[in-house]
Amino acid sequence: KKYKVAIVGATGAVGREMLRCIFQFHFPFESLKLLASSRSAGKVIEYEGHEFVVEELTENSFEGIDVAFWSAGGSISEKYMPYAVQAGCINIDNTSHFRMDPDVPLVVPEVNAYALKEHKGIIANPNCTTIQMVSALNRLNEYFDIERIIVSTYQAVSGAGVAGMEELYRQSQEVLDGKEPVAKTLPCASDKKHYPIAFNCIPQVDKFDLDNHFTKEEMKMVNETKKIFNKDIKVNATCVRVPVLRGHSESVYIETKKPIDMDKVFELLSNSHGVELYDDIENQIYPMATLFIGDELVHVGRVRQDLDNDHALSLWIVADQLMKGAAYNSVDIGLKMIEMGLL
Ligand code: A2P
Repeated sequence: KKYKVAIVGATGAVGREMLRCIFQFHFPFESLKLLASSRSAGKVIEYEGHEFVVEELTENSFEGIDVAFWSAGGSISEKYMPYAVQAGCINIDNTSHFRMDPDVPLVVPEVNAYALKEHKGIIANPNCTTIQMVSALNRLNEYFDIERIIVSTYQAVSGAGVAGMEELYRQSQEVLDGKEPVAKTLPCASDKKHYPIAFNCIPQVDKFDLDNHFTKEEMKMVNETKKIFNKDIKVNATCVRVPVLRGHSESVYIETKKPIDMDKVFELLSNSHGVELYDDIENQIYPMATLFIGDELVHVGRVRQDLDNDHALSLWIVADQLMKGAAYNSVDIGLKMIEMGLL
């Protein structure tokens, strides 16, 4: 069977990668409709000899569409997705809007594909930082039973969309030209203040929750990890924006119920679907964001047992967050649903 497919937010940082993933991973489409705002309507996007004319997203965009991939922002999903569901379209949503809704499965296919069976027209793609972490930790959790995760992230500017990348390029040039860098977008376009990201690290991704002093990005890691692993796992996250264009890195410390056996750890990581163990310190082999641009895997290195706690270990996890963290995971959810007979 071939499907009538739509991409909502097709001109954005993630939307463009969704188009690429649909081709690269052979999502069986009969037609492909690219939707964005009225600003982009009529724009032509070329891919591998195909030309697509971008259409304006409206309430009527989903008549006859089988499956839509969404990445145009939470408020767009909130406003338009009910019309798509009404039209009988299955929606795979990369925004945070529906993620914690109990009626919406939150899925990383290699971790919890079983949850897809419960869908009611909407499936949520988790936050990019959560996806790469749970994918890397899944087999370790199954075997050692993870009780606590402490994570610090080193997140690329493309997580803030095309505007984030433009800001890093422009500010870097401003600094090199001896000028003051002008901050307009980061750390968070909708927050009151903006700080330069060029030659800097910003310990704020998304807005703060003034009640608990964590950011929304950090709370996504806390809450989404519990939902995906379907257990009350303790998570403490610090999310930091760094001057990297593409690819999120994470320093992760876990505590487990079973004592750590490093041979077993390496065996499990070597046999985790979607995960590449990239760890050879004698040869200075470890994952770095620039090594894996455009690649769909989660890369794990610097794996080492804690020196004081034999129920704990540390690792370093890197993925292209536009791919595994967003576009690829979404398309992979669609492919998994086809395989499971759900689409
Ligand atoms: P457009 O390019 O027309 O503004 P990014 O995450 O890179 O900032 O991309 C956001 C995506 O969401 C873009 O494709 C953008 O389209 C789309 N978008 C933003 N606002 C709307 C809207 N009101 N209706 C439809 N698409 C929108």
